[in-house]
Amino acid sequence: MGKRIMKIGIVGFGGVGEDIAKYIINQEDIKIEAIADMDETKRKKAEEVYGIKVYADYRKLCEDKDIEVIYNATPNFMHPEVAITALRSGRHVFSEKPFAIKKEDIAAMLKAEKESGKYLQIDFEMRYSLLPKRVKEIIDAGEIGKPKNILFNHFCGGQGFEKENTWRARIENVGGYYIEEGCHRIDIFRYYMGEEMEEVMAIPAPQIRGDEGWHRAYREPACTLCFFPEEKLANLVTIQHRGVYFAPPGMENELGHEYNVSVVGSEGSLYTNFWKGTILLMNFSGPGGKTSLNRMESYPGLDTNFLHHNSLGFFRDFVYRIRDGRPPLFSASDSWKTMACVFACEESIREGGKRVKVDYTLPDV
Ligand SMILES: NC(=O)c1ccc[n+]([C@@H]2O[C@H](COP(=O)([O-])OP(=O)(O)OC[C@H]3O[C@@H](n4cnc5c(N)ncnc54)[C@H](O)[C@@H]3O)[C@@H](O)[C@H]2O)c1
Repeated sequence: MGKRIMKIGIVGFGGVGEDIAKYIINQEDIKIEAIADMDETKRKKAEEVYGIKVYADYRKLCEDKDIEVIYNATPNFMHPEVAITALRSGRHVFSEKPFAIKKEDIAAMLKAEKESGKYLQIDFEMRYSLLPKRVKEIIDAGEIGKPKNILFNHFCGGQGFEKENTWRARIENVGGYYIEEGCHRIDIFRYYMGEEMEEVMAIPAPQIRGDEGWHRAYREPACTLCFFPEEKLANLVTIQHRGVYFAPPGMENELGHEYNVSVVGSEGSLYTNFWKGTILLMNFSGPGGKTSLNRMESYPGLDTNFLHHNSLGFFRDFVYRIRDGRPPLFSASDSWKTMACVFACEESIREGGKRVKVDYTLPDV
């Protein structure tokens, strides 16, 4: 007997919502039942270009009994309201990162998940994507021993110095650098270390063009130190304006968008270049006790989104898991721990780089 066709709904038909629609529309075993967007031009596009049923009010979409899974692709500040309504309506929810902007909202979302008996999956898609997942496999296989020190370089450009004229231009809507952007890297630190972060220091970047120099509403960091038990350390280095975000393939490095991670363990180390699709693996037990190159893994010719930002595949995997009665790849409670670290980073950068303890206690709601 064939597997049943899963019907999904998408709330928010902007950049992410339309991308997911374009992808799902070509899948035989998943059908987009409807989308919801408050913006009439977005609804028109969904109807006219993709032939999808539309709602102006997302609550109507949540009531649509044919829909089993809802993709929450609304702006950061809308995540809790949409996710909680969808869960309470009996739908499984795949919700974009960040989880939410405030701890209280995360507590309310986790409560709604528990009470509904449905799943809430936060889109920390790096864990699902080919290269970051392959690095995790190498670590878990013990090839570099116990991870001790991680360096993540993320030199990303946004739109250069041009100010965005979207919801991202208001701090109360976006949350902050770590809430909007750094959360992916903080999540990867926890994933690779396999332990919980204890303290953080988020050092603000020099204000290259003064107070008006930031292309988004938030102050950006230069580096972020994340302290784990027994002096294990992860460091995120960011130079946001060195790169150009939407560069043609093959041009990213030249234009300054760098995206790579090094993990040093007790027995060896590895270096991954996400743009080039390569992993170098080194061992500390070469001839004469010297470091030696063990191998290079290379994944050429693959789309960069597939290599490290595969939200599309991750969502499809989530839908299949629901269909097949399997739990999500990781739990929403685990993603809350990432957000606890993210909130500590936001506090640290606000305080000019103060060392801040991560507080994993959730408020009562
Ligand atoms: N996982 C990732 O790597 C990744 C990448 C990009 C964006 N995101 C996240 O995805 C989310 C969406 O980002 P985007 O770039 O698509 O934003 P966007 O502004 O392009 O799209 C958001 C859409 O939501 C709609 N919307 C807003 N409020 C609504 C409401 N109450 N009901 C229905 N629709 C509503 C807007 O009209 C808009 O069409 C954000 O939270 C962002 O952080 C995640």
